[in-house]
Amino acid sequence: MSVPSPFDPFRIGPLQLRNRFIKAGANEGMAKGGVPSKMLVEHHRSIAAGGAAMTTVAYCAVSADGRTFVDQVQFEPGAVKHLRVLTDAVHREGAAACAQITHGGAFNFLPRLSTRYPRSSSGGFNAAGVISGRLFKVGMTPDDLERTANEFANAARLARDAGFDAVEIHMGHGYLLSQFLSPAYNKRRDQYGGGPAGRARFPAMVLRRVLDAVGHDLAVTCKICVTEGFKRGATAEDAAVVAGVLEREGAHLLVLSGGMNVEAPWAIFGSPMPRAATETVQNPVIRLSTRILRLWEPKISFHEMYFMEHSRKVRAAVRMPLAYLGGAKSMDGVRQAMAEGFDCVVMARALIHDPDLINKFRSGAATRSGCTACNECVVMMYTPGGTSCVLKPPNDAELNRTPAAA
Ligand SMILES: Cc1cc2nc3c(=O)[nH]c(=O)nc-3n(C[C@H](O)[C@H](O)[C@H](O)COP(=O)(O)O)c2cc1C
Ligand code: SF4
Repeated sequence: MSVPSPFDPFRIGPLQLRNRFIKAGANEGMAKGGVPSKMLVEHHRSIAAGGAAMTTVAYCAVSADGRTFVDQVQFEPGAVKHLRVLTDAVHREGAAACAQITHGGAFNFLPRLSTRYPRSSSGGFNAAGVISGRLFKVGMTPDDLERTANEFANAARLARDAGFDAVEIHMGHGYLLSQFLSPAYNKRRDQYGGGPAGRARFPAMVLRRVLDAVGHDLAVTCKICVTEGFKRGATAEDAAVVAGVLEREGAHLLVLSGGMNVEAPWAIFGSPMPRAATETVQNPVIRLSTRILRLWEPKISFHEMYFMEHSRKVRAAVRMPLAYLGGAKSMDGVRQAMAEGFDCVVMARALIHDPDLINKFRSGAATRSGCTACNECVVMMYTPGGTSCVLKPPNDAELNRTPAAA
């Protein structure tokens, strides 16, 4: 089999991508009070204009309890008109738009929840609750599972109404569906727990509902962890089993990520958490949690393509389309991903640093990103202009205060 060029088109489900580059969901900090801003539109428009085939709007909660913070997009009918402005702008630049649909489960810092305790795969002590004050979580009942799966399907329908071309079901990083996949969280004794295939049963049920709701019209992708990055967490061997379950259920593409928000955030990024978050960030929850996390952060130094070793094991286990993610920042890395059988490459920081990077790769004006993997952009999420690279001027705060459809 010849190795495709990353600039070749690629089909995922019903969606034709113009090339193999996808912008990863990376929380933009551009939805004050849940309302998508004009800055959010401009952010994704610029990535589309910069040559990516598809850009992903990060963390769109499927319900109010599914948010982690108040200032996040939530899929409810009022959001559709704002998101329509965004998808129109992306389409005008010739790219596709994907909505990451997700639920935080026990990982949330909301002032109010509709239930006394946050829901998760299993009940007990809630590590994220050390910061949020919600020290205990409750295992989901069959009714909870049913309702939540339907919330994902409803969110996908609203994404379609808003003009999105794809939805990415977030099954990684420690959010609700990841709390099912992780052996460190999921202690259930029913059919939704046990080995990796049992733990994947509820995520697969969500996938099925979403496919039934929108799968003919939209590409339906899943973001999973190839390693959770800590001792009791799921491994690449587990991920290979999960990928098989999702392949059989009919997912159009898997995005291979890793790391966990609470136990191993540095593993998400392949580099240390930013020192600035422990000192300057305004949000006290983030400041405190980052300070605590840095206490057990291992010595870690960034290297390109840092999930390759784990992702290879998933590649070997399934035939379905897979997207490589993690430290892709040069044409050499992108070519390696193609040569190793990955169908697409997903990038976050390289495109936050320079939304034009893909055009520059194509023209030869650049062969690698100038991103230093310092992760300071994670802290920028909480600034008035929202997420941006600290090596560049901050975003327009006024634009970020203005609703997209205003
Ligand atoms: C500022 C920032 C915010 C992020 N927020 C999200 C998010 O909301 N959802 C998600 O799945 N991943 C999120 N991520 C993780 C990225 O999608 C990606 O997994 C990670 O940055 C590694 O990819 P990269 O090496 O291409 O940056 C975020 C990353 C950054 C830098
Ligand atoms: S702040 Fe800029 S250089 Fe640092 S990781 Fe983010 S995008 Fe890269």
